[in-house]
Amino acid sequence: MIIDGVLLAAGSGTRMRSPVPKVLSPVLGAPLLSYPYRALVRLHERVGAVHVVVPPGGLPGDRPLEAPGSPPPLYVVQERPDGTFGACEAVISSSAFLSGSSTHLLVLNGDGPLVDETLLESLVSLGEDRPGALVLTTAHLDDPTGYGRILRDPSGRVFAIREESAASASEKAIGEVNAGIYLIPRPILLEAAGRIAPDPRKGERYLTDLVARVVAQAGEVLTLSVSPEAMRGVNTQEELSLVTAVLRERINRLHMGRGVTLQDPLRTDIGPEVEIGPGTVILPQSFLEGRTRVGSSCRIGLGVHLLDTEVGDGAVLRDYVVASSAVIGPKAVVGPFAHLRPGTELGLEVHIGNFVETKKAVLGPGAKANHLSYLGDVTVGARTNIGAGTITCNYDGYEKFETVIGEDVFVGSDSQLVAPLSVGDGAVIAAGSTVVSDLPPGALYLTRPSPELRPEGALRYHERRRDRRKKNKRKESS
Ligand code: UD1
Ligand code: CA
Repeated sequence: MIIDGVLLAAGSGTRMRSPVPKVLSPVLGAPLLSYPYRALVRLHERVGAVHVVVPPGGLPGDRPLEAPGSPPPLYVVQERPDGTFGACEAVISSSAFLSGSSTHLLVLNGDGPLVDETLLESLVSLGEDRPGALVLTTAHLDDPTGYGRILRDPSGRVFAIREESAASASEKAIGEVNAGIYLIPRPILLEAAGRIAPDPRKGERYLTDLVARVVAQAGEVLTLSVSPEAMRGVNTQEELSLVTAVLRERINRLHMGRGVTLQDPLRTDIGPEVEIGPGTVILPQSFLEGRTRVGSSCRIGLGVHLLDTEVGDGAVLRDYVVASSAVIGPKAVVGPFAHLRPGTELGLEVHIGNFVETKKAVLGPGAKANHLSYLGDVTVGARTNIGAGTITCNYDGYEKFETVIGEDVFVGSDSQLVAPLSVGDGAVIAAGSTVVSDLPPGALYLTRPSPELRPEGALRYHERRRDRRKKNKRKESS
């Protein structure tokens, strides 16, 4: 048995009432479609190619489907959204399918994110026992509204699936529904191609009509019973929130099982690709998404948002740190209220304090920027101290320029470093400096106007001001 995976993702998803294609709806930071895709890919010993059926122009979005270590999916365009059978036809007429040698298609609705690989494995082993059979998955629901109903004859054999729109009142009362996960032998699909008539009400050609066709030809249809949870599809925003809750719980339970402390798992969002080491503690309302990797024994404060960010062992992220595409070194201390933008790389034991923004900023081990700074397009050497209010002026309104600061440099508070600029090792920049040209190693730099101190000058200042006020008042009244 050689199995290709198929994900149906070309439907319009009108019930979502959103301009975002349904299968790209975000669930814990990952597109809805990526969940069934991951389940298929995890079955990689059984599944070869994965065909993803998409609408013309493909699926927009900056996160294409991919899984580390597996070949990319094969996108197939369904020219018109003319139904789930139309979507399968697009696959079986694609050159990738025709040149392949798969004997079966494992077809999944792209809007069913709760399916897991255990379920798919059971489906495949059922098919292995009966390689000629069409295998369906079904579930018993308290409220089957909206799903295709499973019609069985008196002996219990399935003879058709009836879609909600075509079901009679008595059929609607049937609680057994089609879960939207199928194992279909190649010959069955090829035989039916071009021969499934559109539904007279909706004009769509239903994959589910394959069942009656196979039965009419004395073929075999088998069913695998699955839990109502595993099959839950997303057709509305409310269902999207329900599956998100289920996935949040599943993912969080997995991390807790591996020794991660989640102070409130109901209020912690962790994406499906995120890795976290044991001993790490995460406070509520944090959101870790994308390819974020957190080491062991880290502390992640309240409301921390990490996207595609790497956090080294023992790092402390205080409350409300926001980071994307950043690397935070082991034992670094960041925040509260710090913003690490793409290209930030903090070395071992770097300290980034409150209201510091970094972008393309590489800080060497032990460097510190503890208060109110902007560090952009900059390299900072080991142990260098960036004083409060320091700003790298990296942009002249046209171009970005680099700043290179050496090791053991002291940058005094409220300094502006106007790039392009390099500051040699060990240099000291006095507070309040504006540095516009390179400083050699060991230099001391000051920009100070000569100070003037007038004893009791304040007193005379106030006298002068009061006199003037009196004169003005007299003028007004005269
Ligand atoms: C479908 C099943 C129904 C089942 C339910 C389970 C059909 C006709 N009905 O209904 O029996 O109980 O799933 O969740 O299959 N799609 C395409 N191209 C299209 C139309 C749809 O790729 O032309 C994709 C959609 O993006 C979606 C999937 O197929 O991922 C299912 O389509 P949807 O419209 O959600 O079908 P349901 O009405 O939910
Ligand atoms: Ca659906």
